[in-house]
Amino acid sequence: MDIYRISGGRKLTGAASAAGAKNAVLPLLAASILGEGESVLKNCPALSDVYAMLGILEATGCRTEFTGRKISICADEMKETLLHGDLVRELRSSVFLLGPVLASRGSVRMRFPGGCAIGRRPVDIHLEALRKMGAEIGEEEGMIVCRAEKLHGAAVRLPFPSVGATENIMMAAACAEGITVIRNAAREPEIEELQNFMNKMGAEICGAGTSTVIISGREKLSGTEWTVMPDRIEAGTLILAAAVTGGEVFVRGARADCMEAFLSCMKTCGVAIDVREDGIGARAPERLSAAGKVSTRPYPGFPTDLQSQLLAAMAASDGVSVIEENIFEDRFKVLKPLRLMGADITLCGRSACVNGVGRLHGARVRAEDLRGGAALVIAALAAEGETMVENIGLIDRGYDKLERTLNGLGAEMTRTKEG
Ligand code: EPZ
Repeated sequence: MDIYRISGGRKLTGAASAAGAKNAVLPLLAASILGEGESVLKNCPALSDVYAMLGILEATGCRTEFTGRKISICADEMKETLLHGDLVRELRSSVFLLGPVLASRGSVRMRFPGGCAIGRRPVDIHLEALRKMGAEIGEEEGMIVCRAEKLHGAAVRLPFPSVGATENIMMAAACAEGITVIRNAAREPEIEELQNFMNKMGAEICGAGTSTVIISGREKLSGTEWTVMPDRIEAGTLILAAAVTGGEVFVRGARADCMEAFLSCMKTCGVAIDVREDGIGARAPERLSAAGKVSTRPYPGFPTDLQSQLLAAMAASDGVSVIEENIFEDRFKVLKPLRLMGADITLCGRSACVNGVGRLHGARVRAEDLRGGAALVIAALAAEGETMVENIGLIDRGYDKLERTLNGLGAEMTRTKEG
């Protein structure tokens, strides 16, 4: 695995673009197999998670092509309904393929995706909803096996507003018989993006972005063309990277209407936010003020995918912040390497109490998960001296050449083979 060498203490300034959203393009690729003919997705990020999803789809017989920022995909020749084991293990959120493959081919098998660095990642909410829609679901040698002649509409109330389960049900219901109502649905912007994409394919979905999504099953859907929305998590990561160095950044394409909780937190930390038509500007003070109490919540609350990055920035701020993680049960792995860099963080149950220190110092640290890895890069930018971040392949899952983007803002960051 490659490592980053980062020399800290340099102010980041300038403009950078937010790439297409990882957590939008993945469900859009899954939904595209519901359509007859080809779909074309533009503004796609070159991420290892995207390549993993394309690998899973190609293994079923889908034809895919990824050139530049454009993905063409056609599922007309899809025949295999066993999802690729190793790639499913790599890409746990691929569980939302169950709905579209089952709806379009009448059966689907996949290994249980299993847990990962941030939690157990169960799939009970997904399976319970598909059962309600008429799927026969069993387990054979560690595989989830689903069959359904024809799914039918159902009234589904989610016990938790699961993003993936909401997306899975929307895709399963799009060609089911009758109407499906999802209550306590997740409200993330990527779910609204999925609704709009599928409606352009000929689906009849409304309510995405609210807690109640209604899907009227249609006979068939057709492939279509779509431009993927910008990545709000990458945008937030870039703002924090500049802010922790006392710098100033303009993130082209970032959409403030999808980032209100995060931007409000940035203002509490003393960052001046400038919302424009074509992006978001952020100008930081010399030193960030503490964020105070921050709790991750389902959208529109503070996003769990920016929790580790905020934690790292608060480690080098003035004052005490308490960051509570309410979405995943194990998303504080980054505390240990941050402490190696001099951070003063105490874990109390689901909350990390961060006492900002004068200066972090460089160290050799290791990324344990995607957003924790991004957090270590942020800490290294603020730290005195050089930091080596190992295992950065995890960062490539959600950021397209992060070193190139940050060096373009004045960072001093190199990528080398694990030495
Ligand atoms: C999506 O994951 C995102 N991934 C995650 O981003 C994000 O952190 C998460 O939503 C929450 O916003 C994609 O969109 C590809 P959930 P997902 O189902 O769908 C529990 C990143 O860093 N749960 O909303 O897997 C689950 O264990 C990634 O980009 C069940 O208990 O998240 C978790 O505690 C990380 N049973 C909580 O719900 C289920 O059947 C939220 O999970 C499903 C989920």
